Amino acid sequence: MACADTPASALGQRNIAEVDFDQIHDRQQFGSVKWANQWDEFSPRVEGEDLLSLWTADMDFRAPETVIARLREAADHGIYGYTRRDPRHYEIVQSWFAHRHNWSPKLETLLPAPAIMPSVAAILRTFTKPGDGVIVQSPVYSPYFEVVQGNGRVLLTNRLRLQNNRYELDLEDFEKLAGGAKVFLLCNPHNPAGMAWTREELAALNDICERHGILVISDDIHCDIRLSDRSHIVFSSISDDAADKSFICTAPTKTFNLAGVPSATISVANRKRRETLLAAMQASFMVNANFFGRLALEVAYSAGSPWLDQLTGYVASNIDLVCEFAGEYLPGITPMRPDASFLVWLDARALDRRVGGIQKFFVDRAGVNLYDGRVYGPGGEGFIRLNVGCPRHLLRRGLERMSSALASM
Ligand SMILES: Cc1ncc(COP(=O)(O)O)c(C=O)c1O
Repeated sequence: MACADTPASALGQRNIAEVDFDQIHDRQQFGSVKWANQWDEFSPRVEGEDLLSLWTADMDFRAPETVIARLREAADHGIYGYTRRDPRHYEIVQSWFAHRHNWSPKLETLLPAPAIMPSVAAILRTFTKPGDGVIVQSPVYSPYFEVVQGNGRVLLTNRLRLQNNRYELDLEDFEKLAGGAKVFLLCNPHNPAGMAWTREELAALNDICERHGILVISDDIHCDIRLSDRSHIVFSSISDDAADKSFICTAPTKTFNLAGVPSATISVANRKRRETLLAAMQASFMVNANFFGRLALEVAYSAGSPWLDQLTGYVASNIDLVCEFAGEYLPGITPMRPDASFLVWLDARALDRRVGGIQKFFVDRAGVNLYDGRVYGPGGEGFIRLNVGCPRHLLRRGLERMSSALASM
């Protein structure tokens, strides 16, 4: 599925050899949030000796060689001036979603964006007023709280329902909140638990939003690493009225481990809202392309499929390891199998109560840093999020340390 004018360096790599995801790379030297800082603005600083970092959501894998080769060429070129996305850029985005997700957004609906969260902020600022209500479904990616409240909008929290170790929608509660909402910020697939919402679930949400005139921002950043037979359903693909009310925010950054060279795309089917949003983003000078981010997106989407297929297999095996290991050696911890992403949500509620905070317990007693479920808002208490986007032996070492810490309680 490479596009006609994919660089030769990328095309040469289509039938890639086995990627070595087992290799360990030193990430300290380039200021990695995950390894060098162990801290971000959404959670407290974590300190400790020899901390094994299995928390923030990037992976410890090199991007596809095709991407690296092209970025290296660009770096060697040495002139990093202004750059723009041309029509071919949008064809590449369209082709990616058509092939991987059976969704073919019209080219004219696609807008450039620097990354997902700035896009969400721009949409909220453009289409709501301070004091307007925004629905989020917790537990959820914590910057959703910041982007709503930090922009003076009112957070309306629709708690997901935990049923048989999976999350389900609480549509009754959603309906109650809908009366006071202008926007619904949907996470699809859902972070932290990796739920891929079904067509029926999305249609039910759409019905309520339609009746209450609610716009939908859908954050699809985790859609590409698909682990179950639930395919990724893009919200706007379910019906014309869903498409008309939605802003679909996409990026290759989780998929190909490109968070440090970001570039994103927003699909807005409604012409008037698209023009309004573009004007607002232009007024905030958000639409210039990042020299490396634009290239990384184009090469990853045009030639990264074989790499992604291998990555998905590796991540799936890591998740199997977590589930099997937890069943035997992590009493009191129940992993939730994700449909998508490289994140595993661990239910440790009883342990959390027993040790007075399970995340801190694992930092102090196991030297393993996981994300505290409390960060994800109501419903996250007692859970921890484990990032399995790392070499398997490192993951196994983390699990073994956690097991020893529990055994010595
Ligand atoms: C659900 C979700 N949305 C957005 C982001 C961040 O996207 P960006 O870096 O493009 O703003 C993340 C990163 O972890 C995420 O998990």
